[in-house]
Amino acid sequence: MKTPNKIKSMKGKEKITMLTAYDCFTAKAMDDTGIDIILVGDSLGMVILGYENTLSVTVDDIIRHTGAVARGTENALIVADMPVNSYNDNEIAILNSEAFIKSGAHAVKIENKPEIAKFLVENKIEVMGHIGLTPQTATEFKVQGKDEETAKKLIELAKKCEEAGCFSLVLECVPVDLAKKITGSISIPTIGIGAGPFCDGQVLVSNDILGLYDKLSPKFVKRYADLGSDMKSAFKSYIKEVKEKKFPDDDHSFH
Ligand code: KIV
Repeated sequence: MKTPNKIKSMKGKEKITMLTAYDCFTAKAMDDTGIDIILVGDSLGMVILGYENTLSVTVDDIIRHTGAVARGTENALIVADMPVNSYNDNEIAILNSEAFIKSGAHAVKIENKPEIAKFLVENKIEVMGHIGLTPQTATEFKVQGKDEETAKKLIELAKKCEEAGCFSLVLECVPVDLAKKITGSISIPTIGIGAGPFCDGQVLVSNDILGLYDKLSPKFVKRYADLGSDMKSAFKSYIKEVKEKKFPDDDHSFH
């Protein structure tokens, strides 16, 4: 069983692997193949629920999908993504994070807000930070920290997340050199998405790598399968066989 301490101890020794999952059987496939961390991301809103962005995802959505992921997972660390407005202050953050832990998460992820992270850690909630491009508050979806001033701010924020007690930190859409610098300046592992090869680990949205979501195709996504096409061809064959009265045949019928 991967614990936050185990993930921390992997820094500098072994790359950390993280993917998103939202259902039991995808989580089980990841767990069976050795993933370190499963994130029940608020990307759920876009890749499963069909919203335009992550802002419509609710606490109840994350609770339900965290439960499903937990039922398929034995070894990986499960991180529940706290949706927008679910950690606006300490009181609401602790209430909601406790609900995510109850539903099967081992830790929660929050975007920015090291002061909230500190409060949660003090109350025995394990927290993964998330800085750089943070979709819940971003007004423009672009690479972050490209100039000296914003790069400096990101380094300071990373240090604040470490000081707050986060056990790891997602860096989203930051230039390779800056991600390398942040990774070298803090003692907790960095997990990159669009942040180059020098982070301590990597995360991607599973529906993107499986070819199940093609509304957006950011440069940092690598497609490892084309399940969207496989799915369509299976549906096509089924429809054709039923229409042509080829299914069900004798092998699939009772006598
Ligand atoms: O919601 C999500 O999938 C995420 C990852 C992209 C890090 O936050």
